[in-house]
Amino acid sequence: MGTVWLWPGSGLHRVLHRVVAGGVVAGQDVVAAVAGALRQTVWCLDGHRGRAGCASWWGPRCFAAEGRWPPGYGGWVRTELLDRDAELRALTRQVAAVRGGAGRVVVVDGPAGIGKSSLLAVVARGAEADGVVVLRARGGPLEQDAPWGVARQLLEPLRSRQVWGELAVGAAGLAMRVLDPELAEPASAGDAMYAAARGLVWLAVNLAARGPALLIVDDAHWADAPSLRWLAQLAPDLDGLALGVLCAVRSGEPPSDPGLLAELLAAAPEPSVRPRPLGPQAAEALVREQLPQASSSFARACHAVTAGNPFLLRVLLGQLAADGTAPGEEAVHQLAALGPEQVARLVGRQLARLPEGAGGLAHAVAVLGRGAPLRHAADLAGLSLSRAARAGDTLRAAGLLEQGHDLTLTHQLVESALYAAMAPGERGLWHARAAQLLQRERADPEAIALHLLRAAPAGEPARVTVLRQAAARASARGAPQSAATFLRRALAEPPASARADADLRLNLGLALAAHLNSEAPPVLHQAVERADSPGQRSAIALRGARALGLAGHFGDAAGLCRTALADPAGTSPQVLTKIEAELVINAWLQAATHPEAHRHLRDPVVDPAPSGLWRVNAAMAAMLAGRPASETAGLLQPVLDSGELATEEDSLTGTFATLMLIADDQLDAARNRCEAVIDAARPRGWLIALAHGSQLRAMALTRAGQARDAEADARLAVDHKLPVTPPAAMLFALSFLLDALVELDELDAAQATLAAAGLGDDPPAGALAAPLVLQSRARLRLAQARPADALADLFDAAARWRQLGCRHPVLASWRVEATETLVRLGDLAGARPLASEQCDLADRLGTPGARGTALRAMAHAAAPDQRIPLLERSVSLLARSPAGLEHARALVDLGAALRRANRRGQAREPLSRALDLAQRGGLRLIARRARNELTAAGARPRRDLLTGPGALTPAEHRVAALAAAGHTNQQIAEQLYITLRTVETHLTHAFQKLRITGRGQLADSMATTAT
Ligand SMILES: Nc1ncnc2c1ncn2[C@@H]1O[C@H](COP(=O)(O)OP(=O)(O)OP(=O)(O)O)[C@@H](O)[C@H]1O
Ligand SMILES: [Mg+2]
Repeated sequence: MGTVWLWPGSGLHRVLHRVVAGGVVAGQDVVAAVAGALRQTVWCLDGHRGRAGCASWWGPRCFAAEGRWPPGYGGWVRTELLDRDAELRALTRQVAAVRGGAGRVVVVDGPAGIGKSSLLAVVARGAEADGVVVLRARGGPLEQDAPWGVARQLLEPLRSRQVWGELAVGAAGLAMRVLDPELAEPASAGDAMYAAARGLVWLAVNLAARGPALLIVDDAHWADAPSLRWLAQLAPDLDGLALGVLCAVRSGEPPSDPGLLAELLAAAPEPSVRPRPLGPQAAEALVREQLPQASSSFARACHAVTAGNPFLLRVLLGQLAADGTAPGEEAVHQLAALGPEQVARLVGRQLARLPEGAGGLAHAVAVLGRGAPLRHAADLAGLSLSRAARAGDTLRAAGLLEQGHDLTLTHQLVESALYAAMAPGERGLWHARAAQLLQRERADPEAIALHLLRAAPAGEPARVTVLRQAAARASARGAPQSAATFLRRALAEPPASARADADLRLNLGLALAAHLNSEAPPVLHQAVERADSPGQRSAIALRGARALGLAGHFGDAAGLCRTALADPAGTSPQVLTKIEAELVINAWLQAATHPEAHRHLRDPVVDPAPSGLWRVNAAMAAMLAGRPASETAGLLQPVLDSGELATEEDSLTGTFATLMLIADDQLDAARNRCEAVIDAARPRGWLIALAHGSQLRAMALTRAGQARDAEADARLAVDHKLPVTPPAAMLFALSFLLDALVELDELDAAQATLAAAGLGDDPPAGALAAPLVLQSRARLRLAQARPADALADLFDAAARWRQLGCRHPVLASWRVEATETLVRLGDLAGARPLASEQCDLADRLGTPGARGTALRAMAHAAAPDQRIPLLERSVSLLARSPAGLEHARALVDLGAALRRANRRGQAREPLSRALDLAQRGGLRLIARRARNELTAAGARPRRDLLTGPGALTPAEHRVAALAAAGHTNQQIAEQLYITLRTVETHLTHAFQKLRITGRGQLADSMATTAT
């Protein structure tokens, strides 16, 4: 099939004009008919106007001839634009960059009607012609509350294509929940949100890996918040991918989520493209298309009065034609009195003049939104189907409705004008009726809910049900904000019973907690207070408390439990014990609530407790008190063996059970538990659980002397928690990351991590993990040769541990570092009592790891002649313990002591062992010291190499280790939650440092140690 170009003034063009002017058939049909007859694609190189009184218009390209109209762009959007050379150049240049792999966000912004959508449409067609996959979406006033509305519009078309099976794999599979919430594996609401966004990021990455792609988001100011969050999350990773996000934003229109929109737009590397007003010549060309006999001064007046805004120009010309105004000097005079606002009002005038049925139908479409089926619009407008169909034709002829069976207004500004013309109360009634008719047809609850959001409350139980269903689907899709919007509306309805009210508030509270909205705790409290039975109250308290606890709102979690326990009558003993266990575990996290925890342990609400969870709390009390490790293990082991913790996976008790295993050096058992959590959490995108599993594995790994691996885990936890949890909830992860970085000798990175955490000088008072952070910071200060600052932090930690009643020598380890620091500062008298206290505490605990460490502290404070025997005992104890880090420290201290005692030959053996251990685990701080000591002892240790496994940074090491184990780059990126490009960069560096050329050599070269 060829192409026929219809130049203005050509014979065929004139024929077409005449046919249309004669009102025989609508414009597009004419071109389609001609195209069909000619078996050609027909291009009109101008726009077209219809007969007088009819503002019909079609795009110059006859899509109908090809049997397709671009969705939402039919009719009004021109595909050949006037006066847009510069804008199109800027956009096509950026799209070319995207095709070349320099992916980016590209923004078109400008006032209403200036031609943004038209630009997007032209750029999209050009990109498609160049083989770019183009996915389109458009925000809308109604759709701004639709959960993942924009993401679904973009991706739904892909789903029916064959490639879908290749795109939605691995982490991208998590995106399935967005399109099909029923299929998704369950995760808590908040995690579903992160999982969905992650899945979508990966889906986009996979798409771009197959070839260049463009995501077009028109009217991005009305994009729903979850979709904006995804796009904003994707934005920083675009560079390096052949993926562009092209958005149009109307300036002056309040965005649905200003913060997220700003974040997305700020990611654009180049300034926005701002379509300029059309110049006088372009305006004249448009005027002449409509009114060929118009004079130049008339065209200039049209241009002036519309300020070159093409939409206004179009409206004005339509109106002048409808009024039969002659385009002469008199008209010029009349126009001079108008301004752009008056012109804008012309849309209203045109609408007001529509025949009655047509006006009603137009309003119905404005209420129902784009693509409304005729039967819905007819029903809403109170018209029979046949009358509605005829009214639809009238609207099409007037250029107000697009072609097609489903009804879409030709321009969003027409939709707003229609909508604004209705009084608010009336609008609400129309939306209520729209909801009703959709409900009758059993439509998607989320679609019905969008109308209910705009209808006045009426106390209808059926509406509450629909809104709840919509909220449940939104939650499953990973859009808790949307769920919260629906639930708030359901509460306003209001629900018929106190029970339903309480239940709604529980769900609202969970949805709010899921996106870390600070209103979650009060809403959950209201839910507990309004419960109509003890059973309901306790069920709400337990679910609410666990959600708040996991989200890091420990105090609020405890508060909910307290309220439920205050009135225990009617609640089953099993549930009561669980609530109590949750109260106590949260209470341990804050010094002020420790007495309450102890009180509950002494006097439980149900005695004996029917659940094993209380054992975790009893073990916590024993651990904090520094009781023998065997005693803690005796309390903990039965509940670990019973598997009960695995069934209570949303409870914090499991996390603390693992913490206790680490503190008492059961490092393998702890790591197994962490890995079980991580393995369960990853495929579900359950990020809070993933962060908990990872952070504790980091703690275990550092203690085992494997700082390199620990850093990866701790970083994942910090990265997830930093933006989303209250400060007190990320102290654990922060302290484990600091520890790993200090041992890795990455002191600047540790300093930067501290700064990014934004704690200032003072971690939150009373928090259980605050002294851990202070101890970690003290180790950093020691490594930075700032002993006085280190000491201040250690004494601060000591005071806080005292307040928390913690005497566990591995958790409250401050005495070890304080001894070392005081000795360094020359205060032996101050150091000795601390060292001997540490020994007493360690002896009581009884683990070789704790005892060996305490002996090393003793050695620091001891008289020179006692140091070597103490260190020898320390080394032999630690060699039997899994505490590899302490072992390496003790070996260096022993070597150093031997060297100072002039036993240089004997010094080399422990120093070499220390260096070996250190290099295996990436303990560069210790390796540095060991190397210096070895040199002083007359050995020639190998320098810290620029090549070899020891030279890899932690990030390079973990990527290389996974690649060596046979994982693909994609699998590595998914597992480490980093981008493909980052994986590639790390591997390139790793290959250089290892002096290899391919993955096949990785495993061997990683295995060689650099001693
Ligand atoms: N460069 C142009 N030359 C001729 N006509 C144009 C041009 N740009 C836009 N138009 C016409 O102006 C009208 C408004 O354009 P468009 O819908 O693209 O504006 P918009 O900026 O997207 O508006 P909104 O703010 O409502 O989204 C359309 O009918 C379009 O065909
Ligand atoms: Mg637009």
